[in-house]
Amino acid sequence: MKILSVVGARPNFMKIAPFIHAINNFNRTNNEKIEHVLVHTGQHYDDRMSKTFFEELSIPEADINLGIGSGTHAEQVGQTMIEFEKVLKSEKPDWVVVVGDVNATLACSVTAKKEWIKVCHIEAGLRSGDIKMPEEVNRLVTDRLSDLLLTPDRLSSENLRKEGTAEDRIVFVGNIMIDTLETNRVKAEAMSIQDIIHRNLPAGYQLKTAVPADENYALMTLHRPSNVDLKEVFEPIMRFLMDEVTKDLTLIWPVHPRTMKQMRVFGLYDEIVNRLRIILLEPLGYFDMLRLNSGARVMLTDSGGLQEECTILGTSCLTLRWNTERPITLKEHGGASVLVGNNVERIREEYRTALAKERTPIRPQLWDGHTSERCLQAILNVSEKFADKSDH
Ligand code: UD1
Repeated sequence: MKILSVVGARPNFMKIAPFIHAINNFNRTNNEKIEHVLVHTGQHYDDRMSKTFFEELSIPEADINLGIGSGTHAEQVGQTMIEFEKVLKSEKPDWVVVVGDVNATLACSVTAKKEWIKVCHIEAGLRSGDIKMPEEVNRLVTDRLSDLLLTPDRLSSENLRKEGTAEDRIVFVGNIMIDTLETNRVKAEAMSIQDIIHRNLPAGYQLKTAVPADENYALMTLHRPSNVDLKEVFEPIMRFLMDEVTKDLTLIWPVHPRTMKQMRVFGLYDEIVNRLRIILLEPLGYFDMLRLNSGARVMLTDSGGLQEECTILGTSCLTLRWNTERPITLKEHGGASVLVGNNVERIREEYRTALAKERTPIRPQLWDGHTSERCLQAILNVSEKFADKSDH
């Protein structure tokens, strides 16, 4: 059997790493060998957004890099489809495995189905209900087309059933990103915050404050267009951070390239870098982020994956969005996260509540570090079924 898996952007790497390790383990212990080809679309290309994760998570270098780079959504998706079609014609895999909800996920699943190749989607069934979110479009299309839908939680399986997906295409396997967290947390937790900060300071940036100890800092990531592309949204959040959060805690903020650009466009960069108790960092590698998350008093984020990691680590998480495709991480489902949108009143209220709360780790069902093995087994099971049918 030949599996071709696809990655494109940063949040894909921690999902594909355990899957590749599961294939390697299978090949070590079985006579039957699975052939594996890794394709990187090249959507994220900076070392800090891509190469670092390959090295840290022992992902083998991609066999093929499509070199897509930045662009509008149509440019990224269109270019990926053109290049990926050529790859499929020469590689002829039995399965294409896509993860998550980035543009690569959509482009490669559509292209594979047009070549009549079976598609498996890992992290299927997540729905924010917000069609304005590019990732929601990617999730809907990918799930509609995939032959095998591997879900991270029961709510996601339920979403697929409600959309009319046939039961035999849905397998609840758990959260594959938690495999990566469990493999690496001991090593990450042994790291020093001091080292992390000093290794990740942006060029020319002067540290203005002492490096905080565990539980004495807030950690923030922000990159969604809905939070960073409009000054009237971005600036009030910045004011809240500068004027209020820094009274209680030091703010550690690894800045996404898009957000760094917007900070300069809005003329806020100088003010932010000169603030005491704000530490700006370059985008962090996996271990650095995991270490800082495990000691943060509170997380402020618009990322999807961090909501899940906070749930396992017990870090109170303020999700700066009005909806989430990961409701299992919310307080009402027993999780550590609360939706605060981009309304400062709401952020302030929930921030105060989070400060008063104890760290409470929570483990949703099957977030046990063994999801990648179940993913591979599900593909093998379905392949057997297809083989049975063609015999008759
Ligand atoms: C993408 C994903 C998003 C994910 C995020 C994590 C889609 C639709 N979105 O959004 O789901 O949460 O990645 O980071 O696929 N840039 C660089 N270097 C890079 C990559 C990007 O400087 O290596 C800059 C470019 O100026 C680019 C901007 O960042 O315009 C945004 O990158 P892009 O790939 O368009 O989307 P993300 O916002 O990163």
